[in-house]
Amino acid sequence: MTKSLKLAIIGGGSSYTPELIEGVLKRLDHLPVTEMHFVDIEAGQHKLDIVAALARRMVEKVGANIEINASLDRRAAIQNADFVMTQFRVGGLQARANDEQIPLKYDVIGQETTGPGGFAKALRTIPVILDICQDIEALAPDAWMLNFTNPAGVVTEAIQKYSRVKTIGLCNVPVSMQMMIAEMMSCPPDQLSLECIGLNHLVWAHRAWIGGQDVTAEVLKKVGDGQNFSMNNIFEEPWDPDFLNALGAIPCPYHRYYYQVDAMLAEEKASALEGGTRAQQVMETEAELFELYSDENLAEKPKQLESRGGAYYSDASLNLVDAIYNDRKTIHVVNVPNNGTISSLDDDAVIECSAVVGSWGVRPLAVGHLSPAITGLIHQVKAYEQLTIEAAVEGSYDKALMALASNPLVPDITRAKAILDDILRTNDDYLPYFSR
Ligand code: G6P
Repeated sequence: MTKSLKLAIIGGGSSYTPELIEGVLKRLDHLPVTEMHFVDIEAGQHKLDIVAALARRMVEKVGANIEINASLDRRAAIQNADFVMTQFRVGGLQARANDEQIPLKYDVIGQETTGPGGFAKALRTIPVILDICQDIEALAPDAWMLNFTNPAGVVTEAIQKYSRVKTIGLCNVPVSMQMMIAEMMSCPPDQLSLECIGLNHLVWAHRAWIGGQDVTAEVLKKVGDGQNFSMNNIFEEPWDPDFLNALGAIPCPYHRYYYQVDAMLAEEKASALEGGTRAQQVMETEAELFELYSDENLAEKPKQLESRGGAYYSDASLNLVDAIYNDRKTIHVVNVPNNGTISSLDDDAVIECSAVVGSWGVRPLAVGHLSPAITGLIHQVKAYEQLTIEAAVEGSYDKALMALASNPLVPDITRAKAILDDILRTNDDYLPYFSR
């Protein structure tokens, strides 16, 4: 292992980046990061410059010896990187607003990563990520790519299937679940063990343990009693206690979109009429954040960043860097190929699960028998995901239509077709390869 680490951050102009910088600065005693190269596209140059200047002030404040580079030169960023982190959004927040609004026109959930919104995001993102992978294969073939780019599970599976890059997909939802459950159980987060398995934004904690005791039923009771179990970007629709008891596993906050479709759709429609979808709120928060980041006296991550949904994302990724670099063999929840972990699913299907991570990579942990209620939903969403990846790679209208028709949130093929045509029209600039 090298004694110095270079991190390349693709989508470095994101408003989340200060959290990543803070995470690096907190871990310097065991992660010798000496270079961070932030890269973005031309349209993001202004934000990139602001983030880079803030990064330099943060580094200087703690007296760290880290070279901060920021450029539009992706190849220079990737060259000799040890870790490549991806956190970009093709089409920016306007594309997200479209993803959230189009399905609503057809009475279907409009969400950034779940349902047709996530499908549209995947179509825009997969060709770009595969292009990035070609640069990594050529310029940093030993680098680990940590993928945060949404829809993280789908994008990670596309990388696994269509490139030779060593990749691990990551999400902040499992860490957030860990924090929220620890809080409701009044125990330090590191004393709580969760056995997680499912797909990205569709992950269940099948068992929760504290000090050798199985506390799953107690946690389910507290969630059913209305204790906080949501994230900033998701309506906190109360859970039905009888349903949770019958399910017997702790759902993630995103499960509300599948299990409480009517209520979530009604909430989305009401808020779209009032002030727009989540993308509009995030646009306002971003404007405020970049104003703060531009202040030359600011040399730390501002508190206001916590109003975004991505809490703990830097902990999730830097703890993983730590586990790989320092060969910790610790447990993390990651997106990796199934390889027999869920016996009924293809080996190359990417799942989100607890796994042991060391310098050699990731080994998923099986949780044993899963009820048909759980495997049924996993299989249906995985079928949608696989068809989406093939549609994106082949530019295939037929596969895209079958992907949407297979998504559990799209109840009808007439609507699936109308939504698909709307998505293709609206995203014309980003889908030049798509053919009918
Ligand atoms: C959660 C999800 C992320 C998503 C984020 C959106 O944290 O796990 O995948 O990107 O929310 O937050 P935002 O503030 O952009 O709505």
